[in-house]
Amino acid sequence: MSNTAIKVQNLVKNFGKGDSLVRVIENASFEIQKGEIVALIAPSGAGKTTLLMMIGCVLEPTSGEIWLGEERVYGNKWVAKDTRKIRREKIGFIFQAHYLIPFLNIIENVTLLPQANGVSEKISKEKAMELLKYLEIDDKAYNMSSQLSGGQNQRVAIARALANNPQIILADEPTAALDGERSVSVIKMLKKIAREQNVAIITVTHDDRILPYCDKIMKIENRTIVFQDSDERII
Ligand SMILES: Nc1ncnc2c1ncn2[C@@H]1O[C@H](COP(=O)(O)OP(=O)(O)OP(=O)(O)O)[C@@H](O)[C@H]1O
Ligand SMILES: [Mg+2]
Repeated sequence: MSNTAIKVQNLVKNFGKGDSLVRVIENASFEIQKGEIVALIAPSGAGKTTLLMMIGCVLEPTSGEIWLGEERVYGNKWVAKDTRKIRREKIGFIFQAHYLIPFLNIIENVTLLPQANGVSEKISKEKAMELLKYLEIDDKAYNMSSQLSGGQNQRVAIARALANNPQIILADEPTAALDGERSVSVIKMLKKIAREQNVAIITVTHDDRILPYCDKIMKIENRTIVFQDSDERII
């Protein structure tokens, strides 16, 4: 079994046509291994969210190829018949805002998707409690999101992203709403998940403080992907 979690080849993404054509990604090729946490940095509008959404099978590329694990999901068209199934089974998303549902308590937020996917209430709750413990937020399981701090809510959002045992986590500025200390604690948590659960994580960030915790730094430069070695890595 290969250790590659994400493989992208000659990926191109344009929006629009003719005079309104916007070229976002021109010819991107890269691989990310299982157990790796990679920071994605680039100026606003460079295409970070666009890239994550293509890898996450949410947004259709213009051309190129994408493999998730052993499965080629895109090859100049969607190869995967059911992209929703791929998302549900392989990918966990974390966004800048936590998007927890305000009228459900924490454990209900974490069990919502697994239950919608047919996991029983009992099993999904056991798994959710395990995740909340892992993220050190289990004491809030029966609180509402509004009773939690920003950092606590973001840890719940991470628990929710992990609820379907994803092989890949795509995080779009997960620490943007947090102060420095809480950002570092969230990124340490993501790193622990990458290492212990062999998950590949791409996290978009504008926060230099979290870069030392990442294994690699990926940039979008001249509409393509380049890697920069993180010089001071914290293992
Ligand atoms: N649906 C769309 N239609 C047309 N253009 C789009 C669409 N979505 C994104 N774009 C354009 O693609 C480019 C990349 O957008 P994207 O949201 O990926 O940038 P980003 O790097 O995530 O920026 P930010 O740091 O501000 O979140 C931008 O020029 C944007 O205007
Ligand atoms: Mg963005």
